[in-house]
Amino acid sequence: GGALTLGGALAGAGIGAAAADGSGQAATAGEARRRETAYGTQKVPFHGRHQAGIATPAQAHAVFLGFELADRTDRAALGRMMRLLTDDAARLTQGEAALADTEAELAALPARLTVTFGFGPGLFEAAGLDDQRPASLAPLPRFPIDRLQDRWNGGDLLIQICADDPLSVAHAQRMLTKDARTFARLRWAQRGFRRGRGVQDEGATQHNLMGQLDGTANPAPGGDAFAKAVWTDAGPRWLRDGGTTLVLRRIRMELETWDAADTKAKEFTIGRRLGTGAPLTGTAETDPPDFDAKDALGFPVISEFAHIRRAHVGEERQHIFRRPYNYDDAPAADGRPDTGLLFASFQRDIGEQFLPIQRRLAASDLLNQWTTPIGSAVFAIPPGCAPGGWIGQTLLG
Ligand code: HEM
Repeated sequence: GGALTLGGALAGAGIGAAAADGSGQAATAGEARRRETAYGTQKVPFHGRHQAGIATPAQAHAVFLGFELADRTDRAALGRMMRLLTDDAARLTQGEAALADTEAELAALPARLTVTFGFGPGLFEAAGLDDQRPASLAPLPRFPIDRLQDRWNGGDLLIQICADDPLSVAHAQRMLTKDARTFARLRWAQRGFRRGRGVQDEGATQHNLMGQLDGTANPAPGGDAFAKAVWTDAGPRWLRDGGTTLVLRRIRMELETWDAADTKAKEFTIGRRLGTGAPLTGTAETDPPDFDAKDALGFPVISEFAHIRRAHVGEERQHIFRRPYNYDDAPAADGRPDTGLLFASFQRDIGEQFLPIQRRLAASDLLNQWTTPIGSAVFAIPPGCAPGGWIGQTLLG
């Protein structure tokens, strides 16, 4: 298992090529046990029909990197870039040093590292392949609630890096950014986090920084409903059978005014309780909300303008899959927080699934009073690849 792989990995210069038999390693029983339970050695397979980092249970740390292509980066150059970046990702996620890795020892503990690539609208133009761009892969229309700052918008290439350890994320970021440098310049980097691994039961819904349980009504990865909602099955051939799309919204939380609201108002806003995450019409987190229930005065228990009513979609195929991260950057000099959500949503099709929900929320969601979208980006997420292949090959190859 992981214990012996780590033992081998630490032994040789060829970090990742380490044999799994651990031969010659004089680890004590205590050490072996410790290593076996360590999260650091855990790996998520890189190769497969889908890219990792989507259905993968969300790791504790993430960075989303948005790049702008250099003028000379055409289709051929994009192919070279994606071969290089795929090779880096394939190695690093498996605990192996990248080629020319300057800090090879940092690669030994991937901690479920995943690297997920995405193509923004501008990449299709640069490649001369605009006819291969999914029809709704375009900057989102401007919503009245938006206060977008250009420094968080757009991007031709996305690299989403996730791991249970921030050092693994930082090392992968460095290696990938170095290799992308010849082809593209970094436009933005957005760091996010969730609960530390092991802090609560795996799979338990986590709190966001507004104190809400966030992620209750989400399609379960691996299930049939997830597959039907997330994997693209129409539009350009290259994206079908394994690809998807990502909407990344940087949404600031107005915590100063949120702090002034009482628990009742906070729960009314979402339609769920803060402590249990239960809908206002139930007692347990998993109770389905009863949107028809009325109170003694005849008013709906879950408000017409509650976030979960406005965001709710009946048909499973129309669901979106939310895989958000919290952000909490340096507060302002006066102590005001710079806090929010890196709202990441995966869906078959942005126009069919994400946009109708976002339109309803923008029109009348109580939560708007306390949240402000300040960044917006969209990407097509190519299918995964087999060993020897590369991400984006079905488009650029
Ligand atoms: C549900 C918080 C933005 C779509 C929820 C829930 C919370 C929440 C606490 C209830 C628990 C759950 O099912 O996860 C937030 C916060 C946001 C935000 C704090 C911004 C900072 C958005 C955006 C969208 C969205 C931008 C999509 C455009 C949904 C959906 C549900 C949901 C689809 C499930 C609704 C249902 O069927 O019950 N959100 N949300 N949320 N949210 Fe948000």
